[in-house]
Amino acid sequence: MNETVGRRGFLGGLVAVGAFAATGCSYLSGNGWDHRVAQLSVPLTRPPGGARRIGAAVRPEHLVAGTAMAALVSRQCDFLVPEFHGQWSAVEWERGKPWYGNLDAIAAFARAQRKSVRGHALIWEKMTPKWARAAMLEERDWRIVETHFASLLPRFADTDEWIVVNECIDTENGEQNLQRNSFQQAFGNGYVARALETARELAPHARLLINDYSVEYSNPIDEARRTALLKLVERLRHDGTPLDGVGVQAHLELAKGPVAARSLAKFFDELQQMNVDIAITELDVLEDHRGAPIERRDARVADAVDRFMDVVNAQTGVSSLATWGLSDKDSWLQERAAATRSACACSPIDCAGMNRGLPYDGELMPKPMLSALTIA
Ligand code: XIL
Repeated sequence: MNETVGRRGFLGGLVAVGAFAATGCSYLSGNGWDHRVAQLSVPLTRPPGGARRIGAAVRPEHLVAGTAMAALVSRQCDFLVPEFHGQWSAVEWERGKPWYGNLDAIAAFARAQRKSVRGHALIWEKMTPKWARAAMLEERDWRIVETHFASLLPRFADTDEWIVVNECIDTENGEQNLQRNSFQQAFGNGYVARALETARELAPHARLLINDYSVEYSNPIDEARRTALLKLVERLRHDGTPLDGVGVQAHLELAKGPVAARSLAKFFDELQQMNVDIAITELDVLEDHRGAPIERRDARVADAVDRFMDVVNAQTGVSSLATWGLSDKDSWLQERAAATRSACACSPIDCAGMNRGLPYDGELMPKPMLSALTIA
């Protein structure tokens, strides 16, 4: 691999997509796109011998053959993460009537393209169907959780990695820093270990992760969350619980100031010392001042990612990095930045009007964030 290309970053090759835009073709029209992308023949870039895997959250509509988005996903990702179609509430809205259509579509695309899939997420309170929450609290029967795991894990047996428990840390209102959710109320704090053990029985060869947010900044909340997460991992490892990795969501927020580089590096070091893989699972950036000129906004987003990547790149324990989507138009952050939500519904797409926290804008044009995503 050419050194210059490698330095430019793992996504840098996709800048070629931008060159294509200059011809005036619409990215979103799809026709002939795959063919043209293939002709660009710029490989997905990463440093020579680099072992870290690259992925993104996707939805089935991103994977339709012949579309620009599918070509981008195909070119860019080693692995795919279902953005929300793997959640319990998405597969079993009604008890005993699971439906896997969306997940099947993602798995089929991955199989055809020789990409792996990270299951996301077996347990997450926010995406647990109402019936399951009620049933767990009433019946207190672990078989409810087990049945859910048993419906997914063997069916998606080639999924080599699962987020088993998502967002279980709560240092503000939790019990021993674990969120007081239905699982915790029904089964006690041991539910995290039990979930990992159940997942291991059903997927003996998959890597099993817990995944959490708000550990990236220097403030009392993030500090407490880093400590709580480390303690949880320490306990799980001490007890011999099958935990292979920890996901750091990395939803960066410009309003929070600069990423706490030193504390984050220490946090990664401590995780690595406990022999768990570190995965950056949901990287994106929530902007603060969207009134500034676009160049300035994009530079600030790229700077934040740059600073974050410096910490990541210095850490050999980080084995993968996923962005939470590829294009701003699909970003869940539009929902959080209410003022920008309508920009996605405009025609033509109002790329400047939306939160610009992913590597590609609303028309799949690469942005400075893409170049900041250098991986060592
Ligand atoms: C988000 C999805 O992107 C949204 O579309 C959905 O409405 C809510 O969930 N942490 C996670 C992800 O682990 O699953 C969340 O994804 C973002 C926060």
